[in-house]
Amino acid sequence: MDVTLRKTIAELNEAAARHDATRQDRLERWRVLEPDAGEFLWFLAQSTGARIIVEVGTSRGVSTLWLADAARAVGGHVLSLDTDADAQGHARRTVTDAGLADHVDFRVEDGGTALARMPDGAVDLLFLDAERTEYASWWPHPYRVLRQGGVLVADNALSHPEEIAPLHDLLLRQPHVTVTTINVGKGELVALRR
Ligand SMILES: C[S@@+](CC[C@H](N)C(=O)[O-])C[C@H]1O[C@@H](n2cnc3c(N)ncnc32)[C@H](O)[C@@H]1O
Repeated sequence: MDVTLRKTIAELNEAAARHDATRQDRLERWRVLEPDAGEFLWFLAQSTGARIIVEVGTSRGVSTLWLADAARAVGGHVLSLDTDADAQGHARRTVTDAGLADHVDFRVEDGGTALARMPDGAVDLLFLDAERTEYASWWPHPYRVLRQGGVLVADNALSHPEEIAPLHDLLLRQPHVTVTTINVGKGELVALRR
């Protein structure tokens, strides 16, 4: 990743911290991905050669930038979904300014609905960073859409373990899945479909 993109991400993290500090309502905060979690996601995407990446929860596009840069490195592509068109509009402009527009499609759509429409085994890397309590209701699609060797990552596994637990339990019940939690950012639940 070049220094310009790192600077863009750092500035977005700083802007998000300033913005979020002024908002009482959690849903009004941007809640962008922490830098170490972004670094982890970026490395994971490249090390697994993820070419088809789906992100649920664009917000201002911090995680989108990490994923898009990783996708560019391996000739891949990111589909980023959010129900908030305004936030996604900001992310789209940031991604375009960063020269990564060719590597990202933005879509205003509910993540569960979008996953339900995707074919089996179509996704190399699925990143969930939306409303955590909804993930289990999307089952089996977060698992079904993963290809063999594909990886699911869900943010906030350590900050909100009780909200991630239903998804975690569903994954643990699958016979061909390796699940772990990585202590970066707010905690990343990681599941590999073997
Ligand atoms: C934690 S923020 C995402 C932060 C983003 N990944 C980043 O690093 O900048 C959560 C986002 O998920 C979106 N969201 C909430 N429920 C959703 C759903 N069912 N489908 C798609 N997006 C959803 C919200 O509008 C919000 O923008």
